[in-house]
Amino acid sequence: MSAPAEQTAAFSADESCAHALDAADPLAPERDLFHIPPGPDGSACVYLAGNSLGLQPKAARAMIEQELDDWARLGVDAHVEGQDPWLSYHEQFRESAARLIGALPGEAVLMNSLTVNVHLMMVSFYRPTPTRNKILIEGTSFPSDSYAVATQVAHHGFDPRESVIRLEPRAGESTLRTDDIINTINDRADEIALVHLGAVNYLTGQWFEMERITEAAHAKGCTVGWDLAHAAGNVPLKLHDWGVDFATWCTYKYLNSGPGAVAGAFVHEKHGRDTSINRFAGWWGNDPATRFEMGPDFVPRPGADGWQISNPPIMAMAPIKASMDVFDRVGMDAIRAKSLAITGYMERLIDRLCGGRVEILTPREPDRRGAQLSLCVPGKSKDLQAKLHERGVVVDYREPDIIRAAPAPLYVSYHDVWRFVRTLGECT
Ligand SMILES: Cc1ncc(COP(=O)(O)O)c(C=O)c1O
Repeated sequence: MSAPAEQTAAFSADESCAHALDAADPLAPERDLFHIPPGPDGSACVYLAGNSLGLQPKAARAMIEQELDDWARLGVDAHVEGQDPWLSYHEQFRESAARLIGALPGEAVLMNSLTVNVHLMMVSFYRPTPTRNKILIEGTSFPSDSYAVATQVAHHGFDPRESVIRLEPRAGESTLRTDDIINTINDRADEIALVHLGAVNYLTGQWFEMERITEAAHAKGCTVGWDLAHAAGNVPLKLHDWGVDFATWCTYKYLNSGPGAVAGAFVHEKHGRDTSINRFAGWWGNDPATRFEMGPDFVPRPGADGWQISNPPIMAMAPIKASMDVFDRVGMDAIRAKSLAITGYMERLIDRLCGGRVEILTPREPDRRGAQLSLCVPGKSKDLQAKLHERGVVVDYREPDIIRAAPAPLYVSYHDVWRFVRTLGECT
């Protein structure tokens, strides 16, 4: 991985430094491949909400139109005669998706939506017993994950108030210490069936030490699942090597595949090969060799594909092709290198231009975060988000009192970041 540009060029808070960093940025041309929405003055806004909804790749429209054309031209025959036959449509994403998360191709599949996949994975991998039925999550787990684990616990007849353990930071701290997470696992291992955390926490931007936590939980016999919503396409992942049991992610954030786009699921091959694992089945998870024999008995396809239920929504999947083309060509190493550089640049600028007025909640260590800084201006963050928006800067606000700013490396420029921080300084 090459040294971040921010470390190689001399840092200054001047606009000229931002321009110099852009001129030296190997990823700068990628920006032209995306539609950047206009701000109030009609010029491109500063878009720092890619951790919420990534921007539209310009190629996405043609991908959807191609499927509409095949549908118009071929009707049902497009399943086999379409340019990308619908029968095997999802298979074209297998390798790209696996590469993104550090999986073997058979371990990753794109299907459904994120929370649906969280539930499906828990059907298979949350197998509570009368004594060992607890799920460990972050206190600031995304609400949908909290609801999913609570209702899974209840589904098995346990009380979520007792069977969901929420990790909280120490008093006066914003993020969780790895040692505290591991100590909780060690102390309560006899009760914990499943550890389920957001790999990059949606609120604070903290990237957990996934390998250490997975290892510690496994050493105590707990199953481990990660929600990669804010990690996929954002930070380098090695799920296979880390021995993670399962994971889920969405493709509409850093993966730029459109609102509500089809999500992903990872099942480690140690489980994927085991076709006896309990699951909620549908015909698309059946072995393709016998799928159309239309028999009553489910024969799961080995690997993550065996967790599919329905035939894939082609129109909803088409934009993923445009996105994966970019990720396959650019690669996560280059994306991470810029992410480190541009996030570090944003941090230094905030310290320099807004120091004392804007608190950074995200860990300061670059290897403990992705391309996101969570900021707080006590009591004023919500108003601030609106003021920034009026000035052409798009960030998002989350309760309580937090602004999230994500310099997504594929389309955010250093000059965007400079404009953001200058505006932040003016508004605080
Ligand atoms: C960490 C996390 N989990 C779950 C979700 C819910 O995703 P979906 O509505 O696609 O199920 C989100 C959405 O932003 C999220 O950030």
